[in-house]
Amino acid sequence: MRSMGLLLAAMLPAALALLAPRVGRADQEIYVTQIPVGYRDWKLISVAHEAGDLNDIRAILGNDVAVRAFREGKLPFPDGAVIARISWAFVPSEQNNKVFGREQSWVAGPPPPWYLQFMVKDSKKYAATGGWGYAQFDKDGKPAPSAKMSTCYPCHAPFKSLDFIFTKYAP
Ligand code: HEC
Repeated sequence: MRSMGLLLAAMLPAALALLAPRVGRADQEIYVTQIPVGYRDWKLISVAHEAGDLNDIRAILGNDVAVRAFREGKLPFPDGAVIARISWAFVPSEQNNKVFGREQSWVAGPPPPWYLQFMVKDSKKYAATGGWGYAQFDKDGKPAPSAKMSTCYPCHAPFKSLDFIFTKYAP
């Protein structure tokens, strides 16, 4: 009888591990590690400029599913929607300023380390992060370390009523 108890006690951690929610094994479930194919040909949703430490300019693009949902104002976004965010350093253009005769032209410069970001909608696969998988790559296509990736959802989370998307469609 005693050995039976010991056996059960030994099995308990394994049994608990099986019951543990999938969130525990977050890496594969939350983060996207492949760059979605063809994103550079997607339609433009809008642009944004971040000042401060980021000091970049960004284009937000969507695949057909995402763009349709933006145009129809449909929330939440359907599964299959993918939103891309490309960013470039925000730099003055000496070339363009020549024709203006003063410093007024700012353009997209070299890519920063946070060059490419994606949000991929799959409400089952990414249920732990509001139905969106998050991804970040540098200009060489190298994915960001998982410590960086764990910052994405917490910052997007307050915008649950907008399905975690900040950008508005610019007509
Ligand atoms: C400190 C807050 C913050 C963090 C952390 C953050 N984001 Fe965002 N994200 C924003 C804001 C604000 C916008 C809209 C403005 C912009 O694009 O600059 C945005 C926009 C986006 C967009 C365009 C769609 C949308 O929601 O407007 C994508 C894609 C995106 N973020 C992905 C990511 C990924 C991937 C990570 C993690 C590597 C991440 N974000 C981390 C605040 C954040």
